[in-house]
Amino acid sequence: MTVLEAQNLTKTYAIGDRQIPVLGDVSFSVSAGEFLVVAGASGSGKTTLLTLLSGLDRPTAGSVWIEGTDITHLSEDELAPFRNETMGFVFQSFHLVPSLNALENVMFPAELRKDPDAPKKAASLMERVGLSDRRDNFPHQLSGGEKQRVALCRALINDPRIIFADEPTGNLDSENSAAILKLMLDLREERGATLVMVTHSPEIAATADRTITLTDGRITGEQRHAA
Ligand SMILES: Nc1ncnc2c1ncn2[C@@H]1O[C@H](COP(=O)(O)OP(=O)(O)O)[C@@H](O)[C@H]1O
Ligand SMILES: [Mg+2]
Repeated sequence: MTVLEAQNLTKTYAIGDRQIPVLGDVSFSVSAGEFLVVAGASGSGKTTLLTLLSGLDRPTAGSVWIEGTDITHLSEDELAPFRNETMGFVFQSFHLVPSLNALENVMFPAELRKDPDAPKKAASLMERVGLSDRRDNFPHQLSGGEKQRVALCRALINDPRIIFADEPTGNLDSENSAAILKLMLDLREERGATLVMVTHSPEIAATADRTITLTDGRITGEQRHAA
C-alpha cells in the first residue's frame, strides 16, 4: 500500500526577480512501513523535498499525496491538524522549545489535539528511550543525544504513520548517532510507521529498504537494499 506519493514535484525559490530552481519534476512513492533514505550532496534539495512532502512548504508545481489526500490542496487550517496527526518530525538541530521542559516538549503535539492521555504517553515514551530521570530538565540542560531522544519522543507521541527525519544524527558524535538510529529503527518497527530519512551516512543507508539520490534537485539514482 502506498502511503506517500510525490507527483512531479517542482520547487523554485524567488530571490528578488531571480528564479532559483531547486527541485525539478521529482516523482516517487513510498509504501506503508518502508524505510526510505534520501541521499545527495549538500545543496541537492533534500531538505526542500522533505519540507514539501511534510506540508511545511508548498511546491511550485506538482502534488504530494498522503494516504489518499492531496495535501497541496488543503488549506492551512486543514493542513496543520492533518500534519500533527499523521506525521512526526526529527530535525538535525532538534528544534525543541527552550522554555518547555523535556516532558512538556514531548507532550506538545498531543496537547494540540487535546489528547487527555498526553502526560501518560509522554512519560511512557521517555521511559522507553531511557530519559525518565530527565523529564523536568530544559533543553539547555540536556546533551545533544538527550535532546534528540526528546525530539524523537515528541515525533512519536501522536503515533504518526509517517516519520520524517532530516539528518537526525548530523549533530551527534558517532556513539550517540548509533544510539539514536537504533532507537528510531526499533520504535519504527514497534509502531509499524513509515520512515523517510535524509542522511549522508552510507551505514544508515545500508539499513534502509531503499535509497533515492538527488543531484541538483532531480532523482538520479534509486537503489533497493536486500532485506
Ligand atoms: N528559502 C530558500 N530560498 C532560496 N533558496 C533556497 C531556500 N532554501 C533552500 N534554498 C536553496 O535550495 C538549494 C537546496 O537546498 P536544500 O534543500 O537545503 O539542500 P540540502 O538539504 O540537500 O542540502 C540550495 O541551493 C539552497 O541554497
Ligand atoms: Mg538539508
